[in-house]
Amino acid sequence: VAAEKGEYRHFMQKEIHEQVRSLTDTLAGRVDFDEGQIRLPQLNLTPDLARRIQKIIITACGTAAHAGMVGKVLIERIARIPVEVDIASEFRYRDPIVDQNTVVLAISQSGETADTLAAMDEGRKRGAVLWSIVNAIGSQAMRIADGYISMQTGPEIGVASTKAFTAPLVDLYMLAVLLADLRGVLDSTRRKQLVSDLRLIPDLVGRCLDRENEIIPVAREMKYIRNMLYLGRGINMPIAYEGALKLKEISYIHAEAYPAGEMKHGPIALVDRDMPVLAIAPQDPWYEKMISQIEQAKTRGGSVIVVATEGDTRVPELADHVFWVPPTPWLLSPVVTVIPLQLFAYHIASLRGLDVDQPRNLAKSVTVE
Ligand code: G6P
Repeated sequence: VAAEKGEYRHFMQKEIHEQVRSLTDTLAGRVDFDEGQIRLPQLNLTPDLARRIQKIIITACGTAAHAGMVGKVLIERIARIPVEVDIASEFRYRDPIVDQNTVVLAISQSGETADTLAAMDEGRKRGAVLWSIVNAIGSQAMRIADGYISMQTGPEIGVASTKAFTAPLVDLYMLAVLLADLRGVLDSTRRKQLVSDLRLIPDLVGRCLDRENEIIPVAREMKYIRNMLYLGRGINMPIAYEGALKLKEISYIHAEAYPAGEMKHGPIALVDRDMPVLAIAPQDPWYEKMISQIEQAKTRGGSVIVVATEGDTRVPELADHVFWVPPTPWLLSPVVTVIPLQLFAYHIASLRGLDVDQPRNLAKSVTVE
């Protein structure tokens, strides 16, 4: 097993670094950069079906559900189809409103999560079109779907999911562009722009990984904290949830995520010197709002770490630490903003000497309810 980890101490760290490759593979064969077209043949998406869809319900558990939350913003923004995101264990028991013009889209690394499969069955019973985005080839979630997108990440071993989070973000973006195109809501200039932006992704992720050494000292400083509050808005709000989940899973530090605009309705009461705040504030349409949220956290004495875009001059004046990401088209920004948060959680757990790849009480795939 040691050999398979190569130069890395843990599978999780190796898998974080594999994202340049997995995202390159995610694009390969799907994106025609010359024509500005997306091809997802295994989805079996006809123009007829694309026009008939009235609602998409994304259902998943854990990290996959956070990818789905980003997918909601992408599909609604690009394809203008209403999207709900439903935790699979909730969807299956809620008597959901689903018909033959509804797509139930499951996202699952393993393709074997019991709640997610049950949610798919529920969708099937009610006549929905069933799609899945799955990593494990030949898994149940792939077999029972009417169409699927196969994540091109290779096997993921670390219990805390990393490369199987960023791949579905890109899959969902491609899906949104394809749906928009088939429904005739994209002019060709915009379509070509959205498609050509994809080309940047592996390199931008690589540039985030090159900054790993800037994250380690912050992890060292923070490794004995008891709590942490993660804040984000808009398309990066789910990244706050995902960053907090990574920290909880492998370092056993209590981390809570909030849509930053909700701070004033409760969580701001928690912010003091013992409650560090991690804010995600890249150059996206919510940037100004995030800046004022960071100011508020700062005045209450909390230590603030901010994920910000290279070249930003306002964030360094406010933040105690900055995790830099390269400038990225905002619809793809979650793919880069999550990278420093994966590395931060990884290094905290690793510095604490914890069993990063097999955290206590957790399983890679939960095949019972
Ligand atoms: C488990 C894993 C998580 C994962 C979740 C969903 O809880 O520990 O990392 O996100 O299951 O798994 P799936 O295979 O359906 O993506």
